[in-house]
Amino acid sequence: MKKRLVSSILCAAMLTASIVGCGSAAPEKTAQAPAQTVEEAETPKADAPAATDEGSDKLVVGFAQIGQESGWRDAETMSIQTYAAEHSDTVELKFADAQQKQENQIKAIKSFIEQDVDVIGLAPVVETGWDQVFAEAQDAGIPIILLDRTADVDESLYATFIGSDFIEEGKEAAKQMAELIGGKGKIVELEGTVGASAATDRKTGFDEEIAANYPDIEIVASQTGDFTRAQGKEVMESFLKSNPDIVGVYAHNDDMALGAIEAIKEAGLKPGEDIVTVSVDGVKGIFEAMVAGEANCTVECNPLLGPLFFETAAKLKNGESVEKWVKSVDGVFTSDIAADVIDSRAY
Ligand code: AHR
Repeated sequence: MKKRLVSSILCAAMLTASIVGCGSAAPEKTAQAPAQTVEEAETPKADAPAATDEGSDKLVVGFAQIGQESGWRDAETMSIQTYAAEHSDTVELKFADAQQKQENQIKAIKSFIEQDVDVIGLAPVVETGWDQVFAEAQDAGIPIILLDRTADVDESLYATFIGSDFIEEGKEAAKQMAELIGGKGKIVELEGTVGASAATDRKTGFDEEIAANYPDIEIVASQTGDFTRAQGKEVMESFLKSNPDIVGVYAHNDDMALGAIEAIKEAGLKPGEDIVTVSVDGVKGIFEAMVAGEANCTVECNPLLGPLFFETAAKLKNGESVEKWVKSVDGVFTSDIAADVIDSRAY
């Protein structure tokens, strides 16, 4: 019965994916502009032209990426860079890798403003602290697109948010966890980056759903693993030492779940059986773990946002209106269907 439910969610997700131009076929790897560090993305040297789109009709977009903390993040970067490479006759991308630091994202945005790009995009590493630099972009007449993560600013300071409903993802993860453990038992939670909307909202959705509907499930420990596999493993090791009787782990992303699986195995237990896993993202690695019987469920979060990002940026350059939240609709995948769908996964 579950298989049928999951399949119908999957169909809805695939339909949506095709609407937003993020179909399930893997994007071809093409020659890409190399990723710039924030320093490289900064204002060009004195003898270089400041405004790169001057005299050209190209859409010039600056994107301040968070970094490379997860397979999901790499897939998003790939989606953005591949689109830009494939549309290099009409699009110019200035890409900055902020190496997990908000100050680097702010530096990159200031640099994009100086270079007078048409549109600025970013995935905010944390929610707060953006008011001033967004206001500077607004004063310069440059619209801001928030991609995949939200920022805690007045709505007037950005044009649109493109991404998933993280609270819903958390709620869905809680329902899947409850089903897997028969509605009772002690579980632990691996949180994402402190202050990131993806972490805050996935926690809120999950914890609220458990508190409201599953009185016999107890979240005995919850700690950040910063969305990385290494920290997911490290934190899980300490969870296992102080909570030997846990039956499940909820991780805010697949990479941390994959780290937790390593820790469970090293502790002499069977991931997927002794301790079940529910995580978020839908990366290839978690599908491999599900096929191997070592993971149980992933709630998808689509990272293939490049095409929609540039289409939206083009609309903004042309003065067209865009929705304030362009919501992704994602699927839910359990281990019983993992083998059937793994080959169609694009990331
Ligand atoms: O903002 C999306 C989250 O950020 C993804 O779930 C996670 O893997 C990433 O690093």
